[in-house]
Formats: sequence, structure tokens, C-alpha cells
Amino acid sequence: MNPLRSVGARLTLAVALLVAGALGVVYAIVVPSLEHNLVGAKVDQLSRVAPLISKQLPGPTQLSLWPDALDSLSTSANSRVVVYQALSANPPSLTVFQDSSRISSKDVQDDRIARRAFVTGKPATGTVTRNEARYAEAALPLGNGNYVLLLSAPLHDSLGNVHLVQRRVLAAGLLALVAALLLGYGAATVFARRIRRLERAAERIAGGDFGEPVDVSGSDELAELAVAFERMRVQLAQLDSARRAFIANASHELRTPIFSLAGFLELLADEELDEPTRREFLETMRGQVDRLSKLTVDLLDLSRLDAGRLRVEREPVDMARLAQDLAGEFAAVAQTSGHPLEAVPEGEALALADQQRALQIGRILIDNALVHTPAGTRVVVRALTRPEGVVLAVEDGGPGLPDGAAERVFERFYRAEGPRATGSGLGLAIAWELATLMGGTIELESRPGLTAFRLVLDPAPGAAPFPRENEPAAVA
Ligand SMILES: Nc1ncnc2c1ncn2[C@@H]1O[C@H](COP(=O)(O)OP(=O)(O)OP(=O)(O)O)[C@@H](O)[C@H]1O
Ligand SMILES: [Mg+2]
Repeated sequence: MNPLRSVGARLTLAVALLVAGALGVVYAIVVPSLEHNLVGAKVDQLSRVAPLISKQLPGPTQLSLWPDALDSLSTSANSRVVVYQALSANPPSLTVFQDSSRISSKDVQDDRIARRAFVTGKPATGTVTRNEARYAEAALPLGNGNYVLLLSAPLHDSLGNVHLVQRRVLAAGLLALVAALLLGYGAATVFARRIRRLERAAERIAGGDFGEPVDVSGSDELAELAVAFERMRVQLAQLDSARRAFIANASHELRTPIFSLAGFLELLADEELDEPTRREFLETMRGQVDRLSKLTVDLLDLSRLDAGRLRVEREPVDMARLAQDLAGEFAAVAQTSGHPLEAVPEGEALALADQQRALQIGRILIDNALVHTPAGTRVVVRALTRPEGVVLAVEDGGPGLPDGAAERVFERFYRAEGPRATGSGLGLAIAWELATLMGGTIELESRPGLTAFRLVLDPAPGAAPFPRENEPAAVA
């Protein structure tokens, strides 16, 4: 594998390049400018001192005074003091007249700076290299231009300092580079290990293993990513267990009527069965087949809802009409079960809904009111406009839901009466999801003597608003 493919290696390389770059900048800009400044300062110092020295020089004829004067001036100027005498102006020619150096004046005989001062008649400064050593120099024309004073100071002290700084910078830079590499590598290794841990967690989750929590220690972006992973794991685990429960419940619900049908088929095969018993069996079997087909339709609806494939319209629907249609549709069933059923429209109730789906919700609610209340219980279907929206309410005077059931009735497969119940516990779950899909909700009020399920939907645009004068007067 290409070693530079890992984030850690790239980070380490980036840190190393950064340190090397910083070092390069110090070397290329800071060190030369330091050298330039130190040399410039030395040259400046000589050029300031030169006029003072020139005033303290003995006259050209006082030859006996020169050696001592040069000694003391050289010490005070901290530089070699040379005085040149002009031999000829054209071509310009100088010769050393006096030199504070007793060894030899050969080396300064042809000095560039002194010559420049002589030729231009003006002070000159600069640096020269003699015998592989650099010197700062300042030259000053004297006595009508017949003489030139030259101060020459070696630069090895200043340059020595620069070289020392240079060496120190290099050493410190190399040290920083090694430290950066080590630190970068260490940090990158830790970083890479955490990424790999996340990768393994993702693979585990992708493989359907939701049991092991993701390590979320730390507080940086990686830790935030781990927290997001952990949230995803928890949600997927919940979805997975809901899916398993759904499949288990659904297959159980399907199995019961199928087993029952299979049993009756066996019994029907008995040729000695008398006619009334046979008819009774067939009646029971029809009931089971009805239950099976209702269950399959419900399961299909739920799977469409889950897959997001169930589309609903949002168009104006007259809920008052719908309430009456529903009451008419259930009239025969209600009569058979002994439930007085009536529709009570209360003014205009124009909702933004899907008519078929609103009917389906109404059927689920009326079916419940007829199935889960004793015979003789009155059932009312109302349609009205309220401040919070347009309402289709199914109310019954039955005993109401048992304690704790109200919070759970909209769950899939939940039945308040437990396993004795005849239904599969899917009706209200479907009703709830359809209502949500239409942008509405279902409210529940239940106590002995009144159980009301209210489908609340948005009013259709242009519908008569809630009549304000009907609002209860505020308590003074
Ligand atoms: N009007 C009501 N009065 C009393 N209990 C009710 C009423 N409506 C619903 N319930 C309770 O709520 C439970 C859930 O209702 P839901 O319609 O979801 O399922 P179901 O009627 O049992 O079965 P399905 O509708 O799928 O055939 C019911 O089993 C019942 O116990
Ligand atoms: Mg039901």
C-alpha cells in the first residue's frame, strides 16, 4: 500500500514540510538580514569616527609624533588607522604614508575604499576582503585631497556572531523538525487508530450487529462523528427490533386464521356432517377469511406507509358530507350489532384532505366504536370547525379505554383488551399514520361514558373560518 495514502502519514509529512519551510525562511531571510545589519552598523560606526580621528592626527611633518598618535587613535577607534599620501592625481595613485599596523602595509596599498575617497574627494565607506577576511572600512580625504585617512576594522567578530546564530538556528530547526516528525507521527497514529475504530464500528453496524456501543470518548470532531455513529446505531437497533417485532406479530396474526381454516377444512371433509353444522362451519370460515383479507390489506397499507409509497391528495373535502356517508355506510352493521349510530354535522367543515384516506380513517374509528363497546352504546359521528382545524370526531358512550391504554393505542398490534380481542391492533396505527401524512393528527379523549377519537385536519383555503362569536367568553 502507498504509505502516503494514510491520513497519518500525510499529516506527519505536512508538519515536517511546515517546519522545514519555516527553517528555510529563517535561513534565507533572517540570517542574511542580520548579517547585513551588523556589517552596516560597523561601517556606520567607522564613518562617524573618521572625522574625529582626522582632527587628532599630527601634521605631515611631525613625523616623531605619528607612531604614538596612531597607536592611541587605533585603540580608541577600535580599528586599523592608515593615512595615504597622493603620488599623482592622474592616474590616481596613492601610497601608504602612515599605518597603525607595524607588520606590513602591503595589504592596504591598493585599498579600494581609500582610492574611491581620493578619486571622488568625498568620504567613502564599504567592505573589502583581504587574505580571505572581510573588513569594514571608512575613508576620508584630508588636507586639500593630498592625503586620505582610512579606518579598517575586521568583521570577524560580527560575522562570527552571525555564524553562531546561523548554526544555532540550524540546530534548533533540526531539533524542531525531529520533534515535529515524532509528535506528528504520534498524533497521526492515535488519530488513525481512532478512525480505524470508527471504521470497524461502521462495519459492525453494516453487518447488522447493533449490540456493541460505539466508543464516544473525546470532544473533538472525531468524537462528534463517533456520537453520530452511536446515535445511528441506536436508531438502527430500534428499527431492527421494531421490524423483527412487526414480522413476528404479523406472522402470528396470519397464522391464527390460517390454522383455524385448516382445522375447519378437515372437519368439513367428514361426510357424515349434518347440514346445520356444515353451514355453521362455513360461516365461521367466512369470518376467518374476512379477517385474513382485512389483515393483508392492513399489512399492505403499513408496508406502503413504511416505504413512503403511499401518496395522499390535499384537496378540499366536505367533512360534514363525509360524516353522513360514513354513518350511512355503517347503518346496517350498527343495527346488527345493536348500536344506535348517527351523524351530527355542525356547520360547514371543509378540510384539506384526501377523501379516500379520510373515509378510511373514519371507517377504522367507527369500526372500533362498534366492536369495542357493548351493544346499545350510542355512537355519534361529528364534523365541525374548531380554532385548531377541521374535526371529524367519532364518539361513543362506552366504558372507555383501560388505564394506560391511551398512550399505546396508536402502536402497531396493540390491543387494549389483550389476546381476547378479535382485531389485530393495526387499525389505529394505520389511522394515525394516514392522518400524519395528510398533515393532521388524531386526538383521543377517553373516560367511562365518553370515548372520542378526533381527526383534526387543516381547513381548506377559502373555507369559512372558525366562528369567533362561538368562542367561550373569557373568564373575567
Ligand atoms: N372506541 C373504543 N372504545 C374502547 N376501546 C377502544 C376503542 N377504540 C379502540 N379501542 C382499543 O384500542 C385497541 C386498538 O385499536 P385498533 O383499531 O388499533 O385495533 P383493533 O381494533 O384491536 O384491531 P384492527 O382494527 O386491526 O382490526 C383496540 O384493541 C381496543 O382495545
Ligand atoms: Mg380497530
